[in-house]
Amino acid sequence: MRVVEHAALRTLNTFGIVASARFLVRAGNTADLLEAQDFAGARSLPLMVLGGGSNVVIAGDLDAVVVIPDLCGMTVERDQNDLVIEAAAGENWAEFVQRTIDVGACGLENLAAIPGSVGAAPIQNIGAYGVELERFVEHVELLDLATREEKLLSCAQCEFAYRDSRFKRRTNEIVTRVRLRLASQFEPMVDYPGVREELAAMGIAPSPRSVHDAITAIRWRKLPRPDVLGNAGSFFKNPILDAAQKDALLAVAPAAPIYAHGGAYKTSAAWLIDVCGLKGFALGRAAVHRDHALVLVNLGGATGAEVLALAAHIRDVVHARLGVVLEPEPRVLHTDQQR
Ligand code: EPU
Repeated sequence: MRVVEHAALRTLNTFGIVASARFLVRAGNTADLLEAQDFAGARSLPLMVLGGGSNVVIAGDLDAVVVIPDLCGMTVERDQNDLVIEAAAGENWAEFVQRTIDVGACGLENLAAIPGSVGAAPIQNIGAYGVELERFVEHVELLDLATREEKLLSCAQCEFAYRDSRFKRRTNEIVTRVRLRLASQFEPMVDYPGVREELAAMGIAPSPRSVHDAITAIRWRKLPRPDVLGNAGSFFKNPILDAAQKDALLAVAPAAPIYAHGGAYKTSAAWLIDVCGLKGFALGRAAVHRDHALVLVNLGGATGAEVLALAAHIRDVVHARLGVVLEPEPRVLHTDQQR
């Protein structure tokens, strides 16, 4: 394992937040992860896991051992009409999706161009353009830091839900590998608004590659590229409302978009923020993106505290005006004093 003391984290989080880690460790295998745990224990420091850094807000300098699981590798097995593909946690998600398409596997094309690592994908059950990761998961392998054993969890055991899984609640579990079952027969999933239109504009028939390319084009048109303007994608989850909450929202905002979600209702966090007039609103060096109200951006040099202050302001305004509580989507990394 490789250890750096007082390591800068700015380039290791897509928000581009300036912060440092007391120690930064890159772990190439499970033994390294255990060694990192021992290293932290010997110094009485917490161990924190950082994947691709695309879904975190670093609240401030981390008096911790921050470990990056750099585990690599991908395998492909054919099982009748399916391709069963495993990938290690440290692989880049967007590149992994392209490689699955290259080997003739179908299904992940709608999850194109999502920043982050393979290991982070099950944590928030990544989803986009009508598809969520959970539909492909056979199992997830992890290292349980409490028992120091490797475990294999079935899809059901992962407790997947909208932008949620057990891994968001169990910080002693480090995802090391995922096993996905993908189809070899292509069934286009192009019903999400704008996808069919994008394909038509590109003048190509749906294929895993063309859907991948169309969705990549839509994403980069709508969402700011983190290498240009620091951000962590959607900052809030789309709120899930029961019937009474939905009626209360419609009473104050009759035009609010409402979608069926299981037995409940989902509304659009972007719409709520937008209708409160917060698009483009800045607090310090953090701002609501001008083109998509759900994305908070780093205007340059923002601290985690500035991003969190902006998020708290948005929550307060939306709650006061519309009665809906917004829940943040990214994980907040902090040591005790920053809570
Ligand atoms: N809208 C506004 N104002 C805006 C932007 C959007 O009112 O500034 C409204 C529009 O009515 C639009 C609706 O919001 O039709 C939905 O917008 P969009 O299609 O961009 O999707 P979203 O609900 O804002 C979700 C995911 C994204 C994912 C897209 C596409 C969450 C929290 N976000 O965003 O995921 O890419 O759908 O499937 O579920 C991410 O998680 O980081 C992420 C980018």
